[in-house]
Amino acid sequence: MKTIAILFCFVSLASAAEIRVNTDQPGAPINPTLYGVFFEDINFGADGGLYPELVKNRSFEFPDSMMGWSKTRGSCSILTADPFNAANPHYLRIEAETAVSNEGFRGMGVRQGDVYDFSAQIRGTAVLRVELVAADGRVLASAKLNGITPQWQKHSATLRPKATEAKARLSLIVEGRGTLDLDMVSLFPKATFKDRPNGLRPDLAQLLADLKPGFVRFPGGCIVEGNSLALRYQWKTTIGKLEERKLILNRWNDTFKNRPTPDYFQSFGLGFFEYFQFCEDIGAEPLPILNCGMACQFHSKDFAPLDQLDSYIQDALDLIEFANGPATSPWGAKRAAMGHSAPFNMKYLGVGNEQWGQEYIDRYAPFAKALKAKHPEIKLVAAAGPSPGDTRFKFLWEKLRELNADVVDEHSYASPKWFYDGATRYDSYPRTGPKVCMGEYAAHAKDKKNNWESALAEAAFMTGLERNADVVAMSAYAPLSAHVDAWQWKPNLIWFDNLRVVATPNYRVQKLFSANRGDVVLPTTVAGTNLYATASADKKTGEVILKVVNAAAAPVDVELNIKGVTGPARAIVLTSDKLTDENTLDDPVRIAPKEEAVTNVAPSFRHTFPSHSVTVLRLKMDHGS
Ligand code: AHR
Repeated sequence: MKTIAILFCFVSLASAAEIRVNTDQPGAPINPTLYGVFFEDINFGADGGLYPELVKNRSFEFPDSMMGWSKTRGSCSILTADPFNAANPHYLRIEAETAVSNEGFRGMGVRQGDVYDFSAQIRGTAVLRVELVAADGRVLASAKLNGITPQWQKHSATLRPKATEAKARLSLIVEGRGTLDLDMVSLFPKATFKDRPNGLRPDLAQLLADLKPGFVRFPGGCIVEGNSLALRYQWKTTIGKLEERKLILNRWNDTFKNRPTPDYFQSFGLGFFEYFQFCEDIGAEPLPILNCGMACQFHSKDFAPLDQLDSYIQDALDLIEFANGPATSPWGAKRAAMGHSAPFNMKYLGVGNEQWGQEYIDRYAPFAKALKAKHPEIKLVAAAGPSPGDTRFKFLWEKLRELNADVVDEHSYASPKWFYDGATRYDSYPRTGPKVCMGEYAAHAKDKKNNWESALAEAAFMTGLERNADVVAMSAYAPLSAHVDAWQWKPNLIWFDNLRVVATPNYRVQKLFSANRGDVVLPTTVAGTNLYATASADKKTGEVILKVVNAAAAPVDVELNIKGVTGPARAIVLTSDKLTDENTLDDPVRIAPKEEAVTNVAPSFRHTFPSHSVTVLRLKMDHGS
């Protein structure tokens, strides 16, 4: 009798599940920037990651000038007299019969037959042999540089490895008598994303492009702030000639004592020009974040005095000119000199990263006043601190409403439960005033794994972002990527080693939402437990896009009421057997979307959503009806 009662209860609950989409009265337009990416040079994300230079400390400007380099034999020294470029004063002198090698970023990943461009500024009187050497000592490729003169000059050679190797190193060997001075020693893959010179690692960049992000928020994150103002990110030092970009410590170098990366610096080979270029290449809006005169508040109280903010504000004004000004303007001319005379058409600018307190408001206000006076067309993104709900957050929202901010940047690193609960977070936000950028978020499951548990919770949360597209203008998972041998923070959207990348389940969720965004929200009601949904209309294809998250451990049969739809349809389903499942470099597609046909589509039809699943249904509208 008891069994029958339980069964009856199960059936009645299941049959009660219903999703109703109102196709007659579309809601708010969905901002094309709703789903974006957040890039920060953390976890070897730039140097050692997206920026594919293989030589670490190529300019000998690390505080320990020989870091990354080792002498195999002979004699060498670091000098500064009469350098190749005064902005980059240190260089390496190697004597006759000397060999030095560079270890790369946890090794150098090279592929059989691919082309790698070696180059260096060299002066002296000897011949240089360059070798790419495998971990077991095999020489994979070599070249000889003759014709070196006593004047600094760029010399180049091409290396084409005869085998693939994840942990190669570069050897430089002086042949014969005489000495050589070397600087800006580079080994750069010929193949870059979109073949850009000084471009990006293609597999990583392609994964980002595949997300079809509406925006790219860069360059961070805490690295914008620095642990001190002296170590803040200054965009002006990241453009122009590579040898003139001034290297600084990466703020994540020693942040986590259990994950030290003493060899983590910012070369700025990937600088603001390259970020803008990448945004343009993938059709994303650039969202640069600038320091507002505050170092990282978790670490210091190093703030620029209020009467000394002018240079910070001027940096922001100059950035707008660099991005959008005519090629004849002083900063526009610098952009043009780098090969891009047309403006980048930047529309958004972040003032500070994750700041809080009256100190932030005191700095945001003069920034906003000065920027709006000259550039009312630029939407400013203001900070809301590190925790989305604490007193700091509430204080900032109140003040930023008073100041009529354009967009407020919320950050959340929290439990999966927070994200399930957060699916309704924006339902109660005021419909006027600043828009929300949920600019950094990630569900932290047990051990901070990128597993299906965390991804599913994020998917539920994202239904709430989309349903509230009148309030939420932008969102991004954080952090974006991590080198498996050099990370400081997890979880991350993408993991990589020197040769491979893996899209996590969290990435799969982001992509599913972003690639199936739709243009306008369709009001949706959901009846049923552990069920989350959002619907939108795609004007171009004339489809209704319904996204459903079933967070329950059992499949659920749902009645779908969507006036005007007709079949057949496509269902894209993301699910996995266990919540602890992950994608790995060796098993990268364990959790990947599968497509299936849905043949019973009608204005009212039933569909079974698998346990622990995210489903996107793309349904045609019957315009004859
Ligand atoms: O995403 C990692 C860090 O988290 C960001 O740098 C910072 O903004 C936040 O605290």
